[in-house]
Amino acid sequence: MDRYQSFARSGLGRFVVGKLGLPNPHPLRRHSPDEPPLNGPVLIGGGGRLVDAVSAVVKSMGLDLASGHDGAARDERYGALVFDASGIDSVERLRELHEFFQPVIRSLGPCGRVVVFGTPPEQAESQIAQRALEGFTRSVGKELKRGGTAQLVYVEPGGEGAIESTVRFLLSGRSAYVSGQVVRIGSADVEAPADWDRPLAGKVALVTGAARGIGAAIAEVLGRDGATAVCLDVPAQGDELSAVANRVGGTALQLDITAPDAPARIVEHLVQRHGGVDVVVHNAGITRDRTLGRMDAGRWDAVVAVNLASQERVNEALLAADALRPNGRVVGVSSIAGIAGNVGQTNYATTKAGVIGMVDSLSRRVAGRATVNAVAPGFIETKMTAAVPLVIREAGRRMNSLAQGGLPVDVAEAIAWFAHPASAGVNGNVVRVCGQSLLGA
Ligand SMILES: NC(=O)c1ccc[n+]([C@@H]2O[C@H](COP(=O)([O-])OP(=O)(O)OC[C@H]3O[C@@H](n4cnc5c(N)ncnc54)[C@H](O)[C@@H]3O)[C@@H](O)[C@H]2O)c1
Repeated sequence: MDRYQSFARSGLGRFVVGKLGLPNPHPLRRHSPDEPPLNGPVLIGGGGRLVDAVSAVVKSMGLDLASGHDGAARDERYGALVFDASGIDSVERLRELHEFFQPVIRSLGPCGRVVVFGTPPEQAESQIAQRALEGFTRSVGKELKRGGTAQLVYVEPGGEGAIESTVRFLLSGRSAYVSGQVVRIGSADVEAPADWDRPLAGKVALVTGAARGIGAAIAEVLGRDGATAVCLDVPAQGDELSAVANRVGGTALQLDITAPDAPARIVEHLVQRHGGVDVVVHNAGITRDRTLGRMDAGRWDAVVAVNLASQERVNEALLAADALRPNGRVVGVSSIAGIAGNVGQTNYATTKAGVIGMVDSLSRRVAGRATVNAVAPGFIETKMTAAVPLVIREAGRRMNSLAQGGLPVDVAEAIAWFAHPASAGVNGNVVRVCGQSLLGA
């Protein structure tokens, strides 16, 4: 809990916050192995082709299915409200959204989930009706209080068997800071892992920039999920890097990803030490902020080299050496600045939009044998954001539906979902981990 949050929850704070209509951030419920994924039963509605598949996943997660709102006890709080809108084939039928959600939305418990399933508009009978679902879910996300989130998941016809890893992510504390997002799932052959708690067992994951911040959290979460994490960072961060690698039971690789021989050294390390790699997370990133008129070429070049050029070179080297194993994963780290733009960040936003371009192009190129996706974090509590001046920092932290900053683990959990072996149908997505930030929305 940050300081404002503690204040807002104190006796005086509650009074002041209520009177002035200030943001009132609810503590988010995050994943814990000892707790159920959600705090209540799941109510499923709608009548599309996904109802059975979603119900089966909910049951296999150990969650209770609510039998219907009328049968529910009056004071019951739902853990999630899920609606299968994939069969909505006319504008008139959008009314079914209202019919399902209106009576029950206020019975959604704290940190509850709203998930709407649809058919990708371009493949749907009514493109208009399916596209309309976006406005609905994004608005619900803005209306939910107390840590609730809302997402839309478009599932391609034929992708019904590829949804489990996504449903598990969205209907749990793993997606605590993800809201207002649109996810696309394609058809893919998906094998369920032997153990859903350690889906990455036997997999090797490269994480760049792993010595601290978000990168360290990524290495930890992928390690928790069973992967051997190859933790990469610059030699100057050697001690911190070793500490992270030891903590997660992985290995450390000290090098500067912008060095001319970096791609070759990475490939050599992965092939010789591990026989290849399954998951590549391009997390290393830097900022060198200045408004454009004051930005020297050095600042421009440094940011482009670390945040974008090196990633392209590493990808090409891995593909050329055939070092990315079948059912491989490439995950980029973009930023909401790459979507919305930001004052003083022409260089940074260029690279972060470029990461989205990398997802678009590479995901098509490797479709069927690997997936390529990216997270776009919003305001995450790290050293990077702690260095931002107070007033701007406080604005960035509160200007989202959850009225708080995210934690590095929130970004890491989204990456672990992309990395999941059962996420073969999740390809070409850019998912924001931003609490539904107002920037670029
Ligand atoms: N913190 C946020 O709010 C936020 C928001 C959006 C996006 N991001 C992105 O998330 C990623 C991680 O951010 P963070 O906040 O943890 O930053 P951070 O500065 O705490 O960590 C970045 C790590 O990358 C390493 N690194 C930098 N240049 C490198 C190089 N040439 N070779 C190898 N390693 C290098 C650094 O040594 C550092 O350990 C970055 O790509 C950043 O742009 C962060």
